[in-house]
Amino acid sequence: MKLETYEGNLQELEADVLVLILDAQNPLFDLDNEALQERIAGAQAQFSAGKLSRELSFDTTGLKVGSVLLFSSELEKNHGFWENLKTFAARGLRYGAETGRPRVAFALNGSAGLEHVGKLVEGLILGSYSFEKYRQKPRNLFEDSVAVIWTTSSEQAQQQIERSQIYCQATNTARDLVNEPGAVVTPAALVRRCQDLAATHNLQVEIWDKDRLAQDRRVGLLAVGGGSEHPPFMATLSYQPDSPSDVHLVLVGKGVTFDSGGISIKPADKMHLMRGDMAGAGAVLGAMDIIGQLKPDIRVTAIVVTAENAPDGKSMRPGDILVYRNNKSVHIENTDAEGRLILADGLIHAGDIGATHILDVATLTGAAVRALGYSFTGLMGNNRTLINAVTRAGGNHGEAYWKLPLPAEYKEYIKSAVADVNNMGGPAAGAITAGLFLQEFVPAGAAWAHLDIAPTFWKEKAWKYFGEGASGVAARTLADLALNWSEHTAR
Ligand code: BES
Ligand code: MN
Ligand code: ZN
Repeated sequence: MKLETYEGNLQELEADVLVLILDAQNPLFDLDNEALQERIAGAQAQFSAGKLSRELSFDTTGLKVGSVLLFSSELEKNHGFWENLKTFAARGLRYGAETGRPRVAFALNGSAGLEHVGKLVEGLILGSYSFEKYRQKPRNLFEDSVAVIWTTSSEQAQQQIERSQIYCQATNTARDLVNEPGAVVTPAALVRRCQDLAATHNLQVEIWDKDRLAQDRRVGLLAVGGGSEHPPFMATLSYQPDSPSDVHLVLVGKGVTFDSGGISIKPADKMHLMRGDMAGAGAVLGAMDIIGQLKPDIRVTAIVVTAENAPDGKSMRPGDILVYRNNKSVHIENTDAEGRLILADGLIHAGDIGATHILDVATLTGAAVRALGYSFTGLMGNNRTLINAVTRAGGNHGEAYWKLPLPAEYKEYIKSAVADVNNMGGPAAGAITAGLFLQEFVPAGAAWAHLDIAPTFWKEKAWKYFGEGASGVAARTLADLALNWSEHTAR
């Protein structure tokens, strides 16, 4: 897909399709053409009366625009305006591509048009993504597509376009990492991705291999990665602003490149989706990709903890006890509760490098999926300001977070007869007991929040502007949080 801007009049606009989006609160377009205005007013009445249940298209005469495609916010009651705008953008571009009319213009020349260019472009870029790499004949549906953004100022439109491109190309790269097979995105491959990002955006990178992990007693990574041919790693990637910052935000990403469950092996059904069990690491790296380009005022470090959870003679066993670097001991009741074991190493390390604020991101529990379904990421933590900040940052990107409690009362569920803590709770409140486990490893004094993206990291079927597969969830939220830190953390 190519993006162009246009700031002339309707008469001179050349496109196969002109997409118009009707929203009662936001006049997005302004057409200097009476016949069209009448037609649209008629359609608007029908949309409002519920007599039109899908978008409307009609051919035009006397214009260099072949046909008009008309969407209305009345068609989508489940989501807010920004999300609808993105969805309609994606559908408009697709409509053109599927009907052999690849040049699609989007009218944002109305009084409320220009301010929404960025959101529309997000819909275009996220909506034209699909993972085609392994097909003999990739379906490059949008290969010839040209999206023409019609506004009253191409210059101002261009600024928003560039920002959205950075956000959404990074998100799509994160989606690629999650969609790739576990045989391709191994722990070493995630490490290479860290090194690439460091080189392209001038970030500091440090890599700890298995020997170094052993020296430092990173026992979670060693235990979880013990059964795999692909050794575990811990990587840190740091962004430093030009002027010194009191805030040091540390993002810890779960990078389990394939989660078989280990000795407590998972059922075969849906196990293939566990190639995406590194989506937390993908999100954190996606965020660093954006941060490295847009340069926030605060210091940000990503810690990627990565291993493959495989069954083998060298695997950790149920009943094993790990003694962490901070001397806390963990009894392994179930080797499939592995994410929290490696995140514990990451959280301890966040303390070692002086984090003031920590966010961990992980496909951590099936229980979060059962509690929240597929549209909300589970959010827990020890600091209300940080939790609210994450929620607000997500709101800018259509990423919904839902706060779950971390009641001290439930710590009882993860008590162990032989160690300081058990690596799983009972059948109740599985997302919360995972959060309580992590809290045991949060360094004293740090504000912390935990994002359980198990509900949202994968789309089983197309949803809004997303196709099937990895969603890239949380990359944009984390970047937005860092880039608008003082705004989001002001109460
Ligand atoms: N990676 C899984 C959680 C998961 C499940 C993510 C489904 C996305 C979709 C995690 O490592 C896991 O296996 N969790 C167990 C924990 C249990 C053994 C306490 C779970 O949720 O069943
Ligand atoms: Mn698991
Ligand atoms: Zn897992």
